[in-house]
Amino acid sequence: MIIDSGGGGLYNTQRTYRGLWREGKEGVQDIRVETPEGAYEVRIASGCLEELGRRARDVLRARQVCVVSDSRVAALYLERALASLEEAGFVPRSFLISPGEASKNGENFLILLGQMARWGFTRTDALVALGGGVVGDLAGFAAASYMRGIDLIQLPTTLLSCVDSAVGGKTAINLPEGKNLCGAFHQPVLVLCDPELLDSLPDEILREGCAEVIKYGMLGSTELLEGLGLRPIRGWLPEIIARCVGMKRDIVSRDLRDKGCRQLLNLGHSFGHAMETLSGYTLSHGRAVAMGLALITRASVNLGLCSREVFAILLELLKGYGLPAESGYGAAELARAALRDKKMDGDALQLVVPRSLGSAELLRVPAEELITWARSGTEP
Ligand code: GLY
Repeated sequence: MIIDSGGGGLYNTQRTYRGLWREGKEGVQDIRVETPEGAYEVRIASGCLEELGRRARDVLRARQVCVVSDSRVAALYLERALASLEEAGFVPRSFLISPGEASKNGENFLILLGQMARWGFTRTDALVALGGGVVGDLAGFAAASYMRGIDLIQLPTTLLSCVDSAVGGKTAINLPEGKNLCGAFHQPVLVLCDPELLDSLPDEILREGCAEVIKYGMLGSTELLEGLGLRPIRGWLPEIIARCVGMKRDIVSRDLRDKGCRQLLNLGHSFGHAMETLSGYTLSHGRAVAMGLALITRASVNLGLCSREVFAILLELLKGYGLPAESGYGAAELARAALRDKKMDGDALQLVVPRSLGSAELLRVPAEELITWARSGTEP
C-alpha cells in the first residue's frame, strides 16, 4: 500500500495552509477538529490558561474536575489552573506524578483511577491534562477508562504536546514490554494551547518539540521547513503550533483510528521507538524522533527513493536545532526492536518513507526486509 502525503495529495501546503494563520482578537487561533466521534476546538491563544474554568464551563457538565500534572509543571501553573476552575464553580482536584516517561505506567494509572473513585467522581466529572505528552497520555487513558469514559481537556505545556500528542485522541501507558502498548482512542472535548507556557521551557525540552515540527515539515510543508531554517523558533511559536495542528486535524479527521493516512504521522517513529526501547527509555522521545527521521531519510536515499539533497536539508535542520542524527545502535538490534512496534501489521511493518521534500509515502515492508532498511539507514 502506498499513501502519498504531498505533491498536491493529502495536504498540499500551498493550497491548504497559505493564510491559515488568520489572527483573531489578540493573536487567537481556533482550529476545529471534526471527527466521527465528536468535534472539539483547539484554541491557540497567549494567556488561555486563565480561561480554563470559563471554557471548561462551556464544554463540561462536571461538578468535580481533577487536574493531572507532573511536579515540575505543577510548581509553575497548577495553582492558576485550580483557581480558574474554582472561580467557574467546579470542585477542583489535583493528581501529580513525577516528571518523565517512567511515570506513564500501569501503577500510576490505577492509583489515579482509585483516587477518582474515592473522590466520588461520576460519569459527568472530568480530567484536565496539564503537562506534556506523558501527562496527556496517562490522564487521557484514565479519562478513557474511568466508568468507560469521562470528559478530558488537554492543556499542553510543551511544544511536542501542543503540536502532536494533545490533539487526535491517542492515549496510552507503557508496559515493561514496550512503549504505548496499552491505550485507547479518546478525543478531548477541548484543547487549550497557551504559547506563553512554552516561555518557561528549558531549551532542551523545546528541542524535543522541534523534532516533531521538523517531522510535520518533512511530511507535508516545505513552507514550514523553510521557515524553520530562517527564523528562530521562539519568535513564531503560535504560528508553528497552528500549522502543525492544522495538518494533524486534516489527517485525523480522515483517519481517526490510525488505519490509513494517520500512520504518516509516524514518520521517523518506527526506528525512533526502537531506539527508545533499546535505551530502556532513557532516550527522550524528541531526540529519538530526530534520529529516526535521519535514519529513514538516509535509508530512502540509499535505496534510491529520495534525493540526497533532502537528507542534507534534514541534517542541517537537525543540527540547527541541536538534535542528534546518529543513534549509535546497530542495524540488527534496531530491526529487531522495530519488529516489536505496535504498528506491525501481521508480518509487515508500515514504514513512512520520505520521497521528496514535504512528501512521504506509507510502505508495507515485510518483516524480513526491515533489516535492509535498518542497514541502509545506518550506513553512509
Ligand atoms: N502522534 C501520532 C498520532 O497522533 O497519530
